[in-house]
Amino acid sequence: MAEFSLQPVLIGPLRVEWPVFLAPMAGYTDGAYRSLCLEQGCGAVVTEMASAHGMSIGHERTGHFLDTWGEEHPLGAQIYGSDPGRMAAAAAKVAETKKFDFLDVNAGCPMPKIRNRGDGAGLMRDPAKMAEIVRQVKAAAGGALPVTVKTRIGWCADTINVLETTAGVEEAGAAAIFLHGRVASVRHSGPSDWTLIAATKRARKIPVIGNGGVKTAADVFRMVAETGVDGVMVGRVALGHPWLFRDIRDLAAGRAPRMPTVDEVRETIREHLRREMELMARRGKKELKLGVELTACLVLRPHLVRYLRGFRGFGVLARTLEERVDAATLLGRVDEVLASGRKCERGGEDLHIQ
Ligand SMILES: Cc1cc2nc3c(=O)[nH]c(=O)nc-3n(C[C@H](O)[C@H](O)[C@H](O)COP(=O)(O)O)c2cc1C
Repeated sequence: MAEFSLQPVLIGPLRVEWPVFLAPMAGYTDGAYRSLCLEQGCGAVVTEMASAHGMSIGHERTGHFLDTWGEEHPLGAQIYGSDPGRMAAAAAKVAETKKFDFLDVNAGCPMPKIRNRGDGAGLMRDPAKMAEIVRQVKAAAGGALPVTVKTRIGWCADTINVLETTAGVEEAGAAAIFLHGRVASVRHSGPSDWTLIAATKRARKIPVIGNGGVKTAADVFRMVAETGVDGVMVGRVALGHPWLFRDIRDLAAGRAPRMPTVDEVRETIREHLRREMELMARRGKKELKLGVELTACLVLRPHLVRYLRGFRGFGVLARTLEERVDAATLLGRVDEVLASGRKCERGGEDLHIQ
């Protein structure tokens, strides 16, 4: 089954045995969800992006983006910003926590309020600054943490400069590159350009992890075969579907991927909510105006949309998602949706394409 195999990857001194990464996704991939994905066979995870500026002024909410639920490893902390000094100070803080295995610089976020001030994807318009940030972040992490960069192929279709930006960060000492094969101007829509991912892989000595456009477990192996990347980072298709990581392992082991049973979906949703409550319970009262339970239910809501897509009764739940409800009410509604049955009982991984 060579076509379904992956080799371990070295990110500096860190050996990632199974180079299938859960992509950082703000609003989704907190410690609760990361830990569920790791338990299903995901190879490594990254936090949601945390602002270096927020960290420098001790903003409490920013700090929570780096919270872990338990011992999630291998784990990267992702920071964003465009001031090299501030990014370095944030990197030093991250290193001090000793909770992380690598430190990732966000050079790909396309949200206007981020990119327009030169942060995230904005860094692609200033390759020299992107490299300088990597240099200073690496120095500040004191050699304790390998530094990676998550970026895109370019700012827009007319300014594709991934070979230049990645040469700069490689030269500055980055240990690996996560490369999303879309330009910033399309954000997350349309196809991901795997040809440019392949060209970047050929041009760089450090590992390149491909990202963008994986829709099935088999796509992970297809991306490796078509581009030669050292690993794959999976984003949206893994939302509400931590079993994707089980499917990927199953394919590699010669087993057919299978749909989660309704009981598995129910138990996972309950466990997810329980973990969110634990995470919230560690926060101060001041931050939780609604209290632990209602806040955890709010955090779970966007996940429910993903977990329950494909069930007949989903529309009813979707209409009530705007209401603030306690855990018992929410889980009762989830049970009703699950009891409504799936629209399609056909097996196979292709069911979870979005
Ligand atoms: C809701 C959402 C939030 C995201 N948040 C982040 C983030 O915090 N940091 C980051 O580097 N990328 C972020 N991304 C981009 C993803 O990591 C990934 O690059 C993108 O979704 C493409 O992969 P996919 O086609 O497999 O979804 C986000 C994407 C989505 C959809």
